[in-house]
Amino acid sequence: MSRSAHPAGPRHADVLPEGHYSAPPTDLNALDPKVWAQTVDRDADGVVTVGGMTVTQLAEEYGTPAYVLDEADFRSRARAWRTAFGADADVFYAGKAFLSRAVVRWLDEEGLNLDVCSGGELATALAAGMPADRIAFHGNNKSPEEIERAVRAGVGRIVLDSFQEIVRVAHTAQSLGGRQRVQIRITVGVEAHTHEFIATAHEDQKFGIPLAGGQAAEAVRRALQLDGVEVIGIHSHIGSQIFDMSGFEVAAHRVVGLLKDIRDEHGVELPEIDLGGGLGIAYTSDDDPREPHEIAKALTEIVTRECEGAQLRTPRISVEPGRAIVGPTAFTLYEVGTVKPLDGLRTYVSVDGGMSDNIRTALYDAEYSVALVSRTSDAEPMLVRVVGKHCESGDIVVKDAFLPGDLAPGDLIAVPATGAYCRSMASNYNHVLRPPVVAVRDGAARVIVRRETEEDLLRLDVG
Ligand code: LLP
Repeated sequence: MSRSAHPAGPRHADVLPEGHYSAPPTDLNALDPKVWAQTVDRDADGVVTVGGMTVTQLAEEYGTPAYVLDEADFRSRARAWRTAFGADADVFYAGKAFLSRAVVRWLDEEGLNLDVCSGGELATALAAGMPADRIAFHGNNKSPEEIERAVRAGVGRIVLDSFQEIVRVAHTAQSLGGRQRVQIRITVGVEAHTHEFIATAHEDQKFGIPLAGGQAAEAVRRALQLDGVEVIGIHSHIGSQIFDMSGFEVAAHRVVGLLKDIRDEHGVELPEIDLGGGLGIAYTSDDDPREPHEIAKALTEIVTRECEGAQLRTPRISVEPGRAIVGPTAFTLYEVGTVKPLDGLRTYVSVDGGMSDNIRTALYDAEYSVALVSRTSDAEPMLVRVVGKHCESGDIVVKDAFLPGDLAPGDLIAVPATGAYCRSMASNYNHVLRPPVVAVRDGAARVIVRRETEEDLLRLDVG
């Protein structure tokens, strides 16, 4: 289950204890809509289709491995978030989950804003024509060049992460003759991952300014004195792959407490509050994510209630979902290269990608599912571990899953829910080439990020 997804740390090809995996599913050919993109189905021949294209067509035309992204699904999830929060709130898609120029244009068309956290992400957003005032610029160590570029571009907000940065941004904006709108990122002492959260323990990390010890209040005090910045709000991001809303409840309570202190001390009611991203998705059938309208309702109610209690005007709320928008919209399509049964253990299925296109299994112990997609099969289920082609025993894509016992080299298999943090965290380990992202919609496919080539690798290697 993906509740064990986050304790980071490398995992080698350890043999899991007996009983770790659940029983085989009753129908190996079924595709659980919770984990697959919205338009995924099987055609009359049993071949999986997405956006009206078969995976065999896609593999033939674009090769494997490939990330296949369902554009209609992406747009509908983006729209669902936008609609759920309505005109009185803002949705900033977190570009770190997956960013490309096509994605930026879809977001723009669907009325979402964009969160970027590096010069490279900012450049991509601007190159695709995202209006700068709809961009939020994040990061715990923005370089002077990045700050200057963001200010010159006119980004709607810079999220300040340290005392040094308050001064840096204020000076940059002032020297350019302007005033930069900023939020101050604070840590509220809440750590939320998956199904649980810890309400006191998480100030020991690099992001934000701790609420504890009055540091966040001091940061606001200093920022309010500087002409180069206009403090528009407080930012809090509490974690990743969260299902339990009570972490947000505690965070909102603490942020509103700070807003009240600011009002009492400075006579200023800050107009915005950003609650970050982190909402969970289904990686396997065991996960039960919430719908955007439920999340919007819960967050709005929490903030409104807290503000009423503190006799504050309810600030404009913003959120920054990344995974929850793009995660479920893509799957990774692989070709099976070898099938190696290990007696009494499991069968190792090697695919033509691996930890270079999905580092999350090795890095976070993340859970994924997998299916045979180029055909159906009535063969008995076999317990498999899907591994890549890298020179490393921890090169695991799917730790434990069931595939049909007649699986053979040349079959296509696909791992769903790889839209977030797979292409964006992909590497060239072993000089393996990063796969393309192929967007499909209404019976047509187009490459939105092309496959890397050996020439690309050699171009960086100046010899
Ligand atoms: N806002 C801020 C300030 C963030 O730091 C993040 C994620 C997000 C929004 C978006 O979070 P999301 O809704 O996508 O969970 N590489 C990890 C996730 C790291 C997330 C870092 N910050 C993974 O593969 O799970």
